[in-house]
Amino acid sequence: MLSKALIALAAFAVAVRAAPSAAAGSCAVWFEVLDDIQANLFDGGECGEEVHESLRLTFHDAIGFSPKLFAEGKFGGGGADGSIMAFAEIETNFHANGGIDDIVETQRPFALKHNVSFGDFIQFAGAVGVSNCAGGPRLQFLAGRSNFSSPSPDLLVPEPSDSNDKIFARMADAGFSPAELVALLASHSVAAQDHVDPTIPGTPFDSTPSAFDSQFFVETLLKGTLFPGNGSNVGESKSALEGEFRLFSDNNIARDSRSACHWQAFITDHDLMVSSFTNVMAKLATLGQEPSALTDCSNVIPVPAPAKLPPATLPAGKTLADIHHACDSVPFPALDTDAGPATSVAPVYVIPFRLSLCCRAS
Ligand code: HEM
Ligand SMILES: *[C@@H]1O[C@H](CO)[C@@H](O)[C@H](O)[C@H]1NC(C)=O
Ligand SMILES: *[C@@H]1O[C@H](CO)[C@@H](O)[C@H](O)[C@H]1NC(C)=O
Ligand SMILES: *[C@@H]1O[C@H](CO)[C@@H](O)[C@H](O)[C@H]1NC(C)=O
Repeated sequence: MLSKALIALAAFAVAVRAAPSAAAGSCAVWFEVLDDIQANLFDGGECGEEVHESLRLTFHDAIGFSPKLFAEGKFGGGGADGSIMAFAEIETNFHANGGIDDIVETQRPFALKHNVSFGDFIQFAGAVGVSNCAGGPRLQFLAGRSNFSSPSPDLLVPEPSDSNDKIFARMADAGFSPAELVALLASHSVAAQDHVDPTIPGTPFDSTPSAFDSQFFVETLLKGTLFPGNGSNVGESKSALEGEFRLFSDNNIARDSRSACHWQAFITDHDLMVSSFTNVMAKLATLGQEPSALTDCSNVIPVPAPAKLPPATLPAGKTLADIHHACDSVPFPALDTDAGPATSVAPVYVIPFRLSLCCRAS
């Protein structure tokens, strides 16, 4: 059997680029941006740290949008408008945006060089980036967001320490159901943390962040047994594998009756995970925008390289008894168990692959 590492490596191969469509005229600049960022931002089309950070940034720009605040007569933010870059000195200091200044400043010169709006650039970079990940989606990309924005109000970006009620209410305000939030959290399959426990930067969330695979949805449901770093930090829950990190919010959303069955469904249905994520990202990327006023440049987004991901498994050393089965209406799916000694995971940006790869069943 092909190992996860080989599959992930295969996806580094340059993705096929779709031919320009009739609308290519107004999209032409985006082909130049594509070549530039694949080479110079994403290290030649990898699914690495800058991709993960760029994907996170699509959310942190867009979710600054609150119809509730507008209804109260206040400014509720402009959504996916680039304000996090235009007013970085304000927004990157919001607590929930910890660490995001890095990617904002890394992206900014690319947006300026190509003279595209900050709002467009942020969503484009996220879409191109995640297409580099094995098993990743090909997201929609609409261009034409205004470059003029105002700073988002604080406290609109969810915190990992927030209760589910608070997170669901905030997401509902922005137009997302619990099911749609679960779909958005497929992004955490290609994620690591630096700032919740700063003593262990680069610690992956409940899966190996080189592939946009379903493993995250399994491992988050394992009963927590350990803290990978220096103990309990605000916004952290116990994870189940040495070297893996679990957000308090991911832990709780996986187990909530409003979201648990959606969560579980992605374990055995990667196509559903990808299509749900693709649909909800189209919504996220146009929060606060009028989509019909934008130009569809989706044809510029690379077609992800075909990747046959292995089915999700129980990590070596774990059994069904270690799973927190939180979806009452559907039995937990039958999964194979990885062979070998108990799995442990190294910080992603040092050794990117699961250490037990040596011992997977073939
Ligand atoms: C309930 C909602 C969410 C919460 C509470 C949350 C929280 C977090 C936190 C605390 C981190 C770690 C940051 C660090 O320490 O460096 C993180 C990382 C990340 N998040 Fe989220 N997140 C949420 C939703 C989303 C959404 C909707 C997306 C994208 C669509 C997203 C994409 C990412 C990615 C890709 C990373 C990894 C960044 C990296 O590896 O550098 N998150 N998230
Ligand atoms: C967008 O606005 C920033 C200032 O916030 C400016 O530096 C940049 O040149 C603008 N880009 C375009 C394409 O107008
Ligand atoms: C950059 O974009 C702005 C806004 O679209 C436009 O007014 C300006 O002429 C452009 N500058 C260059 C050098 O193309
Ligand atoms: C872990 O380290 C962080 C940062 O140095 C510190 O704030 C926190 O209190 C530590 N936690 C424990 C449980 O030692």
